[in-house]
Amino acid sequence: KRKLIIDTDPGIDDVVAIAIALFDETLDVELITTVAGNVDVERTTNNALKLVEFLGRDVPVAKGARKPLMVDLENASEIHGKSGLDGYEFKEPSRKPLEDKAIVAMKNVIMESDSAITLMAIGPLTNIALLLSVYPEVKKNIQEIVFMGGSTTRGNKTPMGEFNMVTDPEAADIVFKSGLPIVMCGLDLGEKVLIYLEDSEKIRKLNKTGEMIYSLFKHYRGGSFYKGLKIYDSFAIAYILKPEMFETKDCYVAIETFSSLTRGCTVVDLNNCWRKEPNVKVCLNVNESEFKKWLIEAIAKCI
Ligand code: BDR
Ligand code: CA
Repeated sequence: KRKLIIDTDPGIDDVVAIAIALFDETLDVELITTVAGNVDVERTTNNALKLVEFLGRDVPVAKGARKPLMVDLENASEIHGKSGLDGYEFKEPSRKPLEDKAIVAMKNVIMESDSAITLMAIGPLTNIALLLSVYPEVKKNIQEIVFMGGSTTRGNKTPMGEFNMVTDPEAADIVFKSGLPIVMCGLDLGEKVLIYLEDSEKIRKLNKTGEMIYSLFKHYRGGSFYKGLKIYDSFAIAYILKPEMFETKDCYVAIETFSSLTRGCTVVDLNNCWRKEPNVKVCLNVNESEFKKWLIEAIAKCI
């Protein structure tokens, strides 16, 4: 089985990605780590614990960074609600996060594993940057980092910046320069596959998880439920499980950290102007009908 660590800031679209990962028979999710992003880290941690308990899975959760490396957190509660998961009443979790903080827990899992670990990062990259900076020895046992973030065109948080990248550009810079195999699932994908009411209805009918996702979707990105939802984080798990659905290109990717106008913008050298060695496999497109079919089948595996 392929071993996975999920680094996340749940977050409604995070929930979909996590649920799919936890019920896929080819994956072994060893750890979930939380980061400040959509809401503060107390809430993202509590949300991760609630979700794991709801799904009846026994995966440890470790709490990560309280804030981005250089700046304060500007959350996305206008998109995901005050709790980060508005729209569904989860039971308060009976378990607690691990005593170890995220980077220590990640380091232990990676160093003790007999096979290389994949990191799926679906929040700001703060924890991953800290992990690679404090424990660079983990690099030799990381298979790849698949992250949701950035864009080859425009942004959603600022005109040129995607939320996870704008939240912690310095962290993204460290990760992009790490030399590890990296896959970028950016805004490009979510914008190509909108989840319409009929798709949400199909999800609702699948099982208890589907009903929960449907309720969250109703509160996600106010009003978009009827116009078509963008479920960005799902593309990271979709890439891990079914990369053949994606059109990709190996490119040199950098992130703007200085400019007041474009801070957090991923600069993707699609035309190889800089003649630099590619450092990121960039997902440019996904097959819409295959993705939607896969999504339903994947959620159907949950409880
Ligand atoms: C990203 O930002 C968050 O709001 C989502 O969970 C996703 O990870 C999309 O820009
Ligand atoms: Ca997220």
